Amino acid sequence: MSFDYAPFLRADLPAPAGRWGGFPAFNFVGGHNDAENVPVAALAAAAAAVLTREGHTLATYGLDSGPQGYRALREGVARLPEAAPSLACSADDVLVTSGSLQALDLINAAFVAPGDTVILEEACYSGAMTRLKKCGARYIGAPLDGDGIRIDALAGILDRLKAEGVRPKFVYTIPTVQNPTGSVMPVERRVALLRLAAAHGIPIVEDDCYADLIWDGDRPPAIRALEGGDRVVYCGSFSKSIAPALRRRAPNSG
Ligand SMILES: Cc1ncc(COP(=O)(O)O)c(C=O)c1O
Repeated sequence: MSFDYAPFLRADLPAPAGRWGGFPAFNFVGGHNDAENVPVAALAAAAAAVLTREGHTLATYGLDSGPQGYRALREGVARLPEAAPSLACSADDVLVTSGSLQALDLINAAFVAPGDTVILEEACYSGAMTRLKKCGARYIGAPLDGDGIRIDALAGILDRLKAEGVRPKFVYTIPTVQNPTGSVMPVERRVALLRLAAAHGIPIVEDDCYADLIWDGDRPPAIRALEGGDRVVYCGSFSKSIAPALRRRAPNSG
């Protein structure tokens, strides 16, 4: 006999997940990388080098770097070509998270209360939607075309909300290699999106986790990097370019 925890659990839990039985033969779930392309030797060398150099900082919570995460990593992120000089950020502006989904969770926790309204893209990353649902938010999908979120349609939604006296907490967008459509928002539309957000006085959350997958060098600037981009909360990720399992996998997460 094992102890029955059921009477102690919250009444509103979802049904228990089945035990994991391995990946299906044709696995289209999750943005997995090609196993052969994980830079195993380089990762092992980097881990060995940093442990040898700074391993004693493991003795203190936060590695002597404070609550925003390992300082040398934040400095490296601030120096990434896509971040500097256009994002013009320093290590003090960077928060290390365990994947960009944790960043979205933190953003939701800071901005969204039950009943709040958030605008996202009509076809959108499922993890973003499930998290907003959990927060009790009302989310509205803005229509997309081949260049991403449609500014005319978004303007209509914002006007309608304004007439109802509702100011959405933010517009969530995946402008570069949109999930699931794969579109890349041209720079003119990024500018228009910023202008519209400014006209309505609302922030934008820019999820740029796939932007590093543009190989031909023709990557538009981040919305955060454009004039007026201080109203943009920007999230990147190493899951898609180095390895997704480097971060902790939260249960039921994307
Ligand atoms: C658009 C988008 N954002 C965020 C994530 C979360 O990625 P991670 O938490 O591994 O950085 C994913 C994962 O597939 C995604 O597709």
